[in-house]
Amino acid sequence: MSEISEQIQTLVPDYVRNLQVYQAGKPIEELTREKGITKISKLASNENPLGPSPFAIKKMTNALWDVHRYPDMNAFKVKTALGKLYKLKNENIILGNGSEGIMAYIARAFVQPGHEILTCENTFIGFYIIARSVGAKLKTVPLNNYRFDVKALAKSITKKTKIIYICNPNNPTGTYITKDEFDYLMSHVPSHVLVILDEAYFEFAKVRADYPDSMDYRYDNVLTLRTFSKAYGLSGIRIGYGFGHEDLISNLHKVKLPFEPGVIAQMGALGAIFDKPHLKRTITNNIRRYEETFKFLEENNFNPIPSATNFICFKTGSEEASKYMFEELLNHGVIIRQLKANEMPDYVRVSLGTKKEMKHFFKAMEAILPAYNKKFGRPS
Ligand SMILES: Cc1ncc(COP(=O)(O)O)c(C=O)c1O
Repeated sequence: MSEISEQIQTLVPDYVRNLQVYQAGKPIEELTREKGITKISKLASNENPLGPSPFAIKKMTNALWDVHRYPDMNAFKVKTALGKLYKLKNENIILGNGSEGIMAYIARAFVQPGHEILTCENTFIGFYIIARSVGAKLKTVPLNNYRFDVKALAKSITKKTKIIYICNPNNPTGTYITKDEFDYLMSHVPSHVLVILDEAYFEFAKVRADYPDSMDYRYDNVLTLRTFSKAYGLSGIRIGYGFGHEDLISNLHKVKLPFEPGVIAQMGALGAIFDKPHLKRTITNNIRRYEETFKFLEENNFNPIPSATNFICFKTGSEEASKYMFEELLNHGVIIRQLKANEMPDYVRVSLGTKKEMKHFFKAMEAILPAYNKKFGRPS
């Protein structure tokens, strides 16, 4: 390293220097480039396999004529549509470049170096990275049977706790905390502690009678995060939203980059909110693919974890087995996700695609399993 670059490095605080770059699911183009494979099923990033709503596409296409103008920084139309959907005032809503964009605003507005954030192990790594990037101290408790452990979390709250992050349902395990568990946790959270409820997979989970829809609660210290990236099929344009008390939201607006999300993203979201049939098709496809995929994994003795989302996590038993499965599936054009970054190297995660994509996955698995089984068998 040259002397100048070493001096520049000293500008970077240790808590940034020590970060690991976020590892996204392998892009389709990368696999084509590397292996010349063209028939590819990407089942690695929990995206909507049906694509965006045609209504959203129309709105976004029309919006192309307006891109010489800055976006409406108050996102009036999207907030009003969300407000109608969830019976909220615009002051209770914030939009960002994906729900991760809003997590970054939360970190800027509410977290200082050394602040303690309480959460579980094996949850969404995007949140860990954002928290660490502002010098927060993460205090984690283990999951219990793959689920957020509200008792352990409640026990771990101390005077130092500033924020509690709950991923509900949890990525990468797909499990959720119930209404009773949420009530239990909230009865132990002091009112000055901020609770972040990450509900990226809300649309898939809400059909469960015991899933705590955060719209049914009104806590002044809870911020709910949701996204257009998953069930609404708009990951590529980056738009997510948060709901909370207006005093929380107004502080987030102070640190928000004014023109996030962009014009196209706002119009895409608006189209998606109004396209209820597309959302319904998405949920129906997901339910069917879930049943087939869960059954397939059970029949092959992988003991999948029951999931309330659009993905399923299952145990391979070792990092080596996960890597083997991942790489062999790549050779068949199927991209799944290894979970080393989530500190679950002995597990993998498969997103639920279309019927055709899941057939591709089943066939590829059937092709690789004889050799896989010989090498690794099943974890006890
Ligand atoms: C639990 C969870 N939260 C947030 C996100 C990020 O979503 P967005 O695209 O809205 O930033 C993801 C994406 O994988 C996720 O799984």
